[in-house]
Amino acid sequence: MTVYEQVGGEPFFVALVDRFYQGVEEDPLLKPMYPEDDMEGARRRLHLFLMQYWGGPGTYSEERGHPRLRARHMPFPIGQDARDAWMKHMSRSLAETEAPEEAKQIMLNYFEQVATFMMNR
Ligand code: HEM
Repeated sequence: MTVYEQVGGEPFFVALVDRFYQGVEEDPLLKPMYPEDDMEGARRRLHLFLMQYWGGPGTYSEERGHPRLRARHMPFPIGQDARDAWMKHMSRSLAETEAPEEAKQIMLNYFEQVATFMMNR
């Protein structure tokens, strides 16, 4: 069973990303990095990416091509502080979901690793 199936499919990722962005919207360090006039698009890109990564439909790659995540994050100043802020909002959002503990732990480990990999300052 994929993580996508374990957590109940697309609605899980929509809710995870919605709650995550509520945190970002209130974060003085992160908020200015995100496109004020396209928060809906930002939400959609993250939700589609995560859904695809964990075994769901490949809509992200159809719309965006190869993720190239590190390259796409280069324009944003991501030091330890931004990385930790991003993780704080994502782990809070994840903790509030009803996903099975095992799936939560797998996702948390993945986020920790990728967030560290995104650091570019
Ligand atoms: C480490 C702290 C991070 C910061 C400060 C950060 C910040 C950002 C910003 C400002 C954007 C542009 C929003 C948009 O218009 O789409 C973005 C895009 C994105 N981020 Fe992050 N991010 C971080 C970590 C991560 C991690 C850990 C992941 C995945 C596990 C991730 C996945 C994505 C994806 C999929 C996009 C959209 C890429 C695209 O198709 O253009 N980010 N991020």
